[in-house]
Amino acid sequence: MISAYLFDLDGVLVDTAEYHFKAWRRLANELGFDFTEHQNEQLKGISRMESLERILTWGNVTLTDAGKLDWATRKNGWYLEYVSRMKPADVLPGVREFLDACRAKGIKIALGSASKNARLILKNTDLLRYFDAVIDGNKTTRSKPDPEVFLLGAQELGVPPAECLVFEDAVAGIEAAHRGGMKAVGVGAPEVLMEADLIISGFKDEHLAKLHSL
Ligand code: BG6
Ligand code: MG
Repeated sequence: MISAYLFDLDGVLVDTAEYHFKAWRRLANELGFDFTEHQNEQLKGISRMESLERILTWGNVTLTDAGKLDWATRKNGWYLEYVSRMKPADVLPGVREFLDACRAKGIKIALGSASKNARLILKNTDLLRYFDAVIDGNKTTRSKPDPEVFLLGAQELGVPPAECLVFEDAVAGIEAAHRGGMKAVGVGAPEVLMEADLIISGFKDEHLAKLHSL
């Protein structure tokens, strides 16, 4: 029996995955190298500092710890330029209706995101009120695929992991859910998210009807 849904944020409820990509690409370009969509895919669900480490390795750039902090802050500034303009209309299609339906059915809802900007995004898009628990990058110490973020979510909801269903657009997030003993719905491309228990293209998807089979 599933009694709680745990949602990733970036790329699942809102299209901020695209903003992360643009901001990271700008950072890479300013450091003198390029950054592809394929590389970006591997950063989904990964914390800000760990993402930076991977990008610097790809670009063969070495920075001091202070330099890393400086570039991470700069990247976040560019990212926040997009986020600060976000409105309720920027929620992905079908998401609000789906969350309303969950509430009506008494399903508990938590956020499980690596982002330290999660609350700001939920506020700007008027999604915060749907969540019984918000676990974000300020509460976690380990990046997905570590299951910490989802286990904390289950704990705050007071629901056993086996009763939780995770919605994720990241390969690392699907693995985190499984390692936490939870089923995972992949939101996005089947060729990327093949480890998921069910794949949907979004929340307007006819596949949503298959959720009950999980
Ligand atoms: C995840 C994104 O949700 O949050 C990653 O998928 C991002 O791309 C991570 O790096 C951390 O986000 P933030 O907002 O704290 O820089
Ligand atoms: Mg995501």
